[in-house]
Formats: sequence, structure tokens, C-alpha cells
Amino acid sequence: MATLRIALFNAKGGCGKTTLAWNLAAGLAQRASTLLLDADPQGSLQRWADWSEEEGNGMTVAGREALKSSGMGSAQYCVIDCPPALEAVETRKALDLADIVLLPVLPSPLDLWASQRSVEAIEEIQKKNQKLRAALVLNQVEGRSALSRAAEHAIATLGLPVFRGQIARRAIYRNAAVEGKSVYQMGKRGDAAVAEIEVLIEEVLK
Ligand SMILES: Nc1ncnc2c1ncn2[C@@H]1O[C@H](COP(=O)(O)OP(=O)(O)OP(=O)(O)O)[C@@H](O)[C@H]1O
Ligand SMILES: [Mg+2]
Repeated sequence: MATLRIALFNAKGGCGKTTLAWNLAAGLAQRASTLLLDADPQGSLQRWADWSEEEGNGMTVAGREALKSSGMGSAQYCVIDCPPALEAVETRKALDLADIVLLPVLPSPLDLWASQRSVEAIEEIQKKNQKLRAALVLNQVEGRSALSRAAEHAIATLGLPVFRGQIARRAIYRNAAVEGKSVYQMGKRGDAAVAEIEVLIEEVLK
């Protein structure tokens, strides 16, 4: 079967692209062979992988050179972590290849407005890459509080679908990163995070 390519992109920095790429890939790797492609020249994912035990459990990590080989090996799933840059060649290449792009966004109007240009860039690429699905993923959601009306309005203005599954702000995401692990390797402490990542995966695979 052809590789399903999932890109994480938002030119807004620090919204959770790398965190979600890593944990989505760990969850997908439990289903089938998964390539995690670090398209960010900063290479933070690759460094993370260097001292992690995650690799080998169905997951392989590759650098941005792998963007050149459009086949991307024989993995069933390929998760691509994009740099926080609209104009980067890596971003362009990743979105040209992707089947689905997820934009992590913090649920605040300021962060949502800052994602406008990224949404426009995706819409531009969709004219050529017509298979490309796109969705917002709310990340670092606090408690059970409903979205503010301003945030609801900002989301509507962006005009992309929003995934039902949301990712809460949880210390476990940071702690797992510090240990070179995904939330799947954190035992009981990781259960709530694993459950929400699983919801995202099911929406991606729909
Ligand atoms: N759901 C979450 N709960 C708690 N902390 C989080 C969550 N998601 C991300 N973080 C933390 O927020 C910070 C930024 O996340 P991350 O590096 O994944 O963002 P990014 O979009 O890849 O950033 P950049 O644009 O610099 O590549 C990190 O310290 C990460 O541990
Ligand atoms: Mg990153």
C-alpha cells in the first residue's frame, strides 16, 4: 500500500509541531512501519531520536535529505515535522508530498490569528496538491474550559476544519521529551495523553 504522509506545519513557532509529530509517530508505529521525517533544519527531532529507545519499535527517524526521495522508503506511515517557516524549501517540499497536514494551534485568538498566513500557504499548495487534506488541532488546551468567543470567531475566519480530538496542556509531554520518550513509554502517567493522541490518529486514518 502507498505510504500515508502526515505533515505537521504552522509557521507560528512553538505551537507543538515537533511534540505532536513525535507522539503521533510513536502511536502509528504500534500499528505499522512508520518513518518520522525531521524536515526542520534545526534537527531537534533527530537529536531527540539519537538518545531515545523509541526507534526500532516500528519507527525509523530520518533527516530532511529523505524529502528528496519521494518514495520515502517502504513505511506505511510517514510523519513529517516541518520547520516554523513559510518560505523554507523543506516546508514547500513536505506540503507538496503530504496527504494530510495538521496545524497545531493554541486556543487563543492571538495564536489563531498568527496562523492565518500558514493557512493561506496551504490553500495555495492545495491548488497543485489536490489530495492534501488540512485540519487544525487545538494543542495545550487548559482544563475543560470552552473556547472563548473570540477564539471561536478566529477559527471560523481561518476556514479550516478543526479536529474533534484536542490535546491538553500536560506536563507529561514535556517530561517524556526530557527522557527521550513518547507518552506511550511513560506507563500509567502517560495514559491520558496516549488516549488523546489515539483520538487524533483515528481522525487522521479516517
Ligand atoms: N500539549 C502540551 N502540553 C504541554 N507542553 C507542550 C504541549 N505541546 C507542546 N508542549 C511544549 O511546548 C514547547 C513547544 O513545543 P514544540 O517544540 O513541539 O513546538 P514546535 O511547533 O515544534 O516549535 P518550533 O516552531 O520551534 O519548531 C515544548 O517545550 C513542548 O514540550
Ligand atoms: Mg519544532
